[in-house]
Amino acid sequence: MAGRLAGKVVIVTGGGAGIGRGVSTRCASEGAAVVIAELDAGLGAETARLITDGGGRAIFAHTDVTDEASVAACVATAEAAFGPVSGLVNVAGIYPRATLDNTTVALWDRIMDVNLKGPFLTCRAAVPSMRKAGGGSIVNVTSTNAYSGWPNLFAYSTAKGGLLTMTRNLARGLAADRIRANALNPGWVISDNEIRIQAGDGHDLAWIAEAGKRQPLGRQQTPDDSAWSVVFLLSDESSQVTGTELNVDAGRSMPGQGGSG
Ligand SMILES: NC(=O)c1ccc[n+]([C@@H]2O[C@H](COP(=O)([O-])OP(=O)(O)OC[C@H]3O[C@@H](n4cnc5c(N)ncnc54)[C@H](O)[C@@H]3O)[C@@H](O)[C@H]2O)c1
Repeated sequence: MAGRLAGKVVIVTGGGAGIGRGVSTRCASEGAAVVIAELDAGLGAETARLITDGGGRAIFAHTDVTDEASVAACVATAEAAFGPVSGLVNVAGIYPRATLDNTTVALWDRIMDVNLKGPFLTCRAAVPSMRKAGGGSIVNVTSTNAYSGWPNLFAYSTAKGGLLTMTRNLARGLAADRIRANALNPGWVISDNEIRIQAGDGHDLAWIAEAGKRQPLGRQQTPDDSAWSVVFLLSDESSQVTGTELNVDAGRSMPGQGGSG
């Protein structure tokens, strides 16, 4: 397939829903062969079907990013289907609201497992494949919350701060292998899960849309807003970009804007 990612083999964790589905479909429409590494079998298979029905190349690999064996199997599946991996997008993440006082040890461990240990395991498993490919690109989906540190996302923002540091570490350690690593910091993205969370707080779609008008750029963000930036970071257009962070947050993290989620 032609496109900005033609010839690339890209694993997208959490590709079943939200930002991950947006990234998966956009990568496929730009010519990548996409492996959807997703815990929810129904959603993962659905994303793969959406892509293949549209003429793109994709497979679903049932994956739990917190499980070493499962992640290794995902990379093996990707290689068997499409050849060595050239791109890894770590999107899988969870963001249950909890302050310091109501973060249990079990919740802390779960949030760290998915948001921080997951990317460690996927990078460690995918990098040998990228070396075979002669190089690659890792994109870690972090959050501007790593900086703004909202109190009701205590463990989550701590994990995303760790993921930013991991990204810099990967960039420095893997540059000699021509493997790049960058972070993408979304702001407030209206994914299905975010809609569910806002509904739980009594906020309907009209409230969400109204809040979007107060963003510096005047609307809420969609998964596709992040997906376009991921395409850039995976493509050869960014072949000299590593160890950096791209805020795709409608300007919410600009000084004086009050931070973002
Ligand atoms: N939505 C936002 O406003 C926002 C803002 C900043 C950063 N982010 C980050 O973007 C990413 C995606 O967010 P979203 O809103 O699209 O979430 P989402 O819940 O819609 O999608 C996350 C996907 O990850 C999958 N997943 C969860 N645990 C997994 C595991 N152990 N193994 C494999 N897959 C797993 C889920 O099944 C789901 O399909 C997350 O890392 C999140 O922290 C989101």
